[in-house]
Amino acid sequence: MLRLENVVKSFGGVVATNDVSLNFPTDSLSAVIGPNGAGKTTLFNLITGHLVPDSGRILLADEDIVGMAPAGIVRKGIGRAFQVASIFPTLTVEQSLMAAVASHVHMSESLLTAFPPRSVRERAGELIDLLGMAPVARLLCSNISHGDQKLLDIGLALALEPRVLLLDEPTAGMGPEERWQMIGTVRRLWEQGRMTLIFIEHDMDIVFEVAETIHVLRYGSVLATGSADDIRNNPEVIEAYLGTETPEEVPA
Ligand SMILES: Nc1ncnc2c1ncn2[C@@H]1O[C@H](COP(=O)(O)OP(=O)(O)O)[C@@H](O)[C@H]1O
Ligand SMILES: [Mg+2]
Repeated sequence: MLRLENVVKSFGGVVATNDVSLNFPTDSLSAVIGPNGAGKTTLFNLITGHLVPDSGRILLADEDIVGMAPAGIVRKGIGRAFQVASIFPTLTVEQSLMAAVASHVHMSESLLTAFPPRSVRERAGELIDLLGMAPVARLLCSNISHGDQKLLDIGLALALEPRVLLLDEPTAGMGPEERWQMIGTVRRLWEQGRMTLIFIEHDMDIVFEVAETIHVLRYGSVLATGSADDIRNNPEVIEAYLGTETPEEVPA
């Protein structure tokens, strides 16, 4: 579904993405891990068109999307959860989701049969159920918890019915219990939604438990790719990442 081939991106002297080749099969659930500064967010920015690679190709279903504007890439089916709940502070959760669904329906008008007609409210209701947000559906976005705002961000991305969904640290800023709840929701929406899902996550226990495939980045390069067992037992990963007591503080 999504393939990166020899992607390079530098900022001045810093090579944030160093000849990265990765494959994300259709409907797979992958995690990208690595110390702070490893290039995880840069990778997402390259995929979404917010950054343009210096070289290399990014293929969505075999179409090279390098150089397309972010809005065009969204239309192609790559969604991303941003910290955007605040753009609808005066709307309720339900209204925000309805606005996102409506914008998507409008956006897809030219695609005609690709999207069966469905009531906007009904689709927003489905998203609320999927995310377990019924208790806060009628609250203003500005009044919901941090965790619910993160869920809403995911819902706004889902409203656009992405083929590929990117989640950059969906559990950031959450306590242990809330983290597991969030990642359970992510796993559930992947199981029910049939999409290629890629998430960035710091917590190893979560990654090992949830992801089918794990890609480890270090200094902008892919250090290892594999299942939880492969990664757990990879000597290079143990040395570079797992063996470090505070992996977040390893310098770039
Ligand atoms: N827009 C930018 N301008 C300059 N340097 C950047 C920019 N974005 C990222 N970097 C640098 O690229 C490296 C990778 O950053 P990032 O992708 O944010 O890492 P991660 O998400 O893994 O913590 C870091 O050294 C960071 O300082
Ligand atoms: Mg990051």
